[in-house]
Amino acid sequence: MKHIHSYYSPNDLYNKIIEGLHNMGKDPEKITLDDLLPVDEFHIRSKTATYELIRLARFTPDMHILDVGCGVGGSTRRLAYEIGCQVTGVDLSDEYIDAAERLTKLFNMQTRAKFHAASALDMPFEDNSFDGAWSIQMNMNIEDKLGLMKEIFRVLKPGGRAVLYELCAHKNTPVYYPTPWAQDNTMSFLVVPEEFRKIITDAGFEIDAWTDKTDLAKIAFSEMTEPVGDPDLPELGTHLLVGEDILTKAYNLKRNLFEERVSLIETAAVKPRA
Ligand SMILES: C[S@@+](CC[C@H](N)C(=O)[O-])C[C@H]1O[C@@H](n2cnc3c(N)ncnc32)[C@H](O)[C@@H]1O
Repeated sequence: MKHIHSYYSPNDLYNKIIEGLHNMGKDPEKITLDDLLPVDEFHIRSKTATYELIRLARFTPDMHILDVGCGVGGSTRRLAYEIGCQVTGVDLSDEYIDAAERLTKLFNMQTRAKFHAASALDMPFEDNSFDGAWSIQMNMNIEDKLGLMKEIFRVLKPGGRAVLYELCAHKNTPVYYPTPWAQDNTMSFLVVPEEFRKIITDAGFEIDAWTDKTDLAKIAFSEMTEPVGDPDLPELGTHLLVGEDILTKAYNLKRNLFEERVSLIETAAVKPRA
């Protein structure tokens, strides 16, 4: 897991984001959630997907929700902001969690969105702590997927919903690397959707909704062309999170989608009441 941790560990991330905002002429004290979009919703279809998950989740203001693999907390803050619920984000990367906490303070949302640096396989929470959970494009880095789903099951209260928006394998192999989540195949552990579904139910969940979003992912990448020469990177972007080869990574993701090497699923699973 060490190499995955270092993959998601840029130096001084918060200050780089702040510098990017300044260079774009934005005052960090006056930004909106959308001003951070290029860097803080690090998943396919960005906030459009997050709003679809919010609708699917049916979380309510009285709830405490867990965001597993929250990155720098863009979706964590958006969920807390839109629903008015309490959200706790967990991520393996201390650097992302540091940025998540400091960015959240810019919005004065620190009482509603809190963060912990921890592995999703061993979360620092009691059994039955959360009313709901979501995890957005994180399972790819986890080999022990049954362990992951059992850990989410453990910390959820009975009746709680877990909403997942996850990349899976597809019918063709191999996957082209690097991708946005992995420099090479030693960091990536994809299973086909049917296997992922079985892992979720083996952990004890009942599947309430299951949608293949691969075609929507393809549309999102349809205009992307192969990068040539030195990358022309924006002030703010996911290159700050995972390196300056991000355009190659994104292009490989496009190829993997169009050549049916990766797929994208969205699901809601419920921890049954005893
Ligand atoms: C593609 S990013 C998605 C981040 C965030 N969910 C989002 O949509 O913006 C994947 C995230 O999973 C985190 N991650 C990978 N392995 C993890 C683990 N074992 N425990 C917790 N987080 C992990 C990474 O640090 C990274 O932030």
